[in-house]
Amino acid sequence: MNIRKLHKNDFTEYKRIKLESLKEEPIAFDSSYEELKIWNEEKWQSIFSDFLNEDECIFYLAEEDNQVVAFAYIELIKKTKKNHIASFPTMYVNNDYRSQGIASMLLEKLIDEIRHNFKQIIKIQLSVYAPQKAAINLYKKFGFEIFGEFKKELQYQDKFYDQIAMELFLH
Ligand SMILES: CC(C)(COP(=O)(O)OP(=O)(O)OC[C@H]1O[C@@H](n2cnc3c(N)ncnc32)[C@H](O)[C@@H]1OP(=O)(O)O)[C@@H](O)C(=O)NCCC(=O)NCCS
Repeated sequence: MNIRKLHKNDFTEYKRIKLESLKEEPIAFDSSYEELKIWNEEKWQSIFSDFLNEDECIFYLAEEDNQVVAFAYIELIKKTKKNHIASFPTMYVNNDYRSQGIASMLLEKLIDEIRHNFKQIIKIQLSVYAPQKAAINLYKKFGFEIFGEFKKELQYQDKFYDQIAMELFLH
């Protein structure tokens, strides 16, 4: 298993695994598979190039046999009054590769990089939908604490899901 940063040559694999994540885990993410699968190439390229901008995003992936099997990224908030906060939007591990410590390796890389290269950041915040128990456990294991809950934040196939807000103070 190779854990590394996103590279400009990863566009096709990024697009594939992003769509896979939305299709396989519709209750884990805000975006929907149906919306993204009709995006044109220009829109995909624009999102992808934002992820390559290392001033604004730290993006790690895991690959096996040249295929991306997991990804995770953190966004740096570029507003002057908010640049002490990093926002951890999401992560995903392909079902066949779960429970092997891959998410933990990705999260450790992200947090280490924040600690070493972005010393102004004092906390990482995230939100996660309540049914994602594995993710909530993972974040707790890394020291994230729940500080809030938003009721009925996601609607999917006529059901509503609550969202949990978590944060980790680095110093
Ligand atoms: C959450 C997710 C990323 C975990 O990936 P993973 O590589 O299997 O996780 P790891 O093997 O590194 O496990 C780390 C910890 O996560 C928790 N965890 C992982 N799988 C779990 C499960 N099935 N049930 C309960 N807790 C689980 C445990 O605390 C585990 O630590 P432990 O092994 O010491 O018990 C993966 O299940 C996933 O992609 N889920 C769907 C998408 C999602 O929910 N993304 C988060 C959106 S914010």
